[in-house]
Amino acid sequence: MKKVARLLLASALVVSFSATAMAGAKERGKKLYIQKTCHTCHGPKGKAAIPTYPSLGGQNKQYLINQIKDIKSGKRKNGMTMLMKANPFVQKLTKKEIKDISTYLSKIK
Ligand code: HEC
Repeated sequence: MKKVARLLLASALVVSFSATAMAGAKERGKKLYIQKTCHTCHGPKGKAAIPTYPSLGGQNKQYLINQIKDIKSGKRKNGMTMLMKANPFVQKLTKKEIKDISTYLSKIK
């Protein structure tokens, strides 16, 4: 019985810890999205400000991470990619910032 209780407590701690970490990433991502000027092109809530630019809100998190990395590195390039790649904020994004911004964007409904 004691063992079960300890196990339950341990898993409750794990769950609440990852929930907190997740909320932290979302909050950080929300701030970064504005700080790094993403909103000027992709809209304040991930709904594109310019009709020909992609909306990002509600998109799959891993997909967003991959696209930002590929645009930053130059692996993804087509007619419009340079518009984003040329932004100095995009060039300086760290892996963690990319992850946090993507977490935030994927949570927008
Ligand atoms: C100067 C305008 C501009 C800024 C600033 C900008 N982007 Fe973009 N972004 C674009 C354009 C244009 C595209 C479409 C690129 C293409 O066609 O390949 C794009 C594409 C993307 C994509 C891929 C979307 C998809 O559906 O494949 C993601 C993700 C993204 N941007 C995230 C960001 C983030 C995060 C920031 C801030 C760090 C940012 N962008 C800043 C213009 C911008």
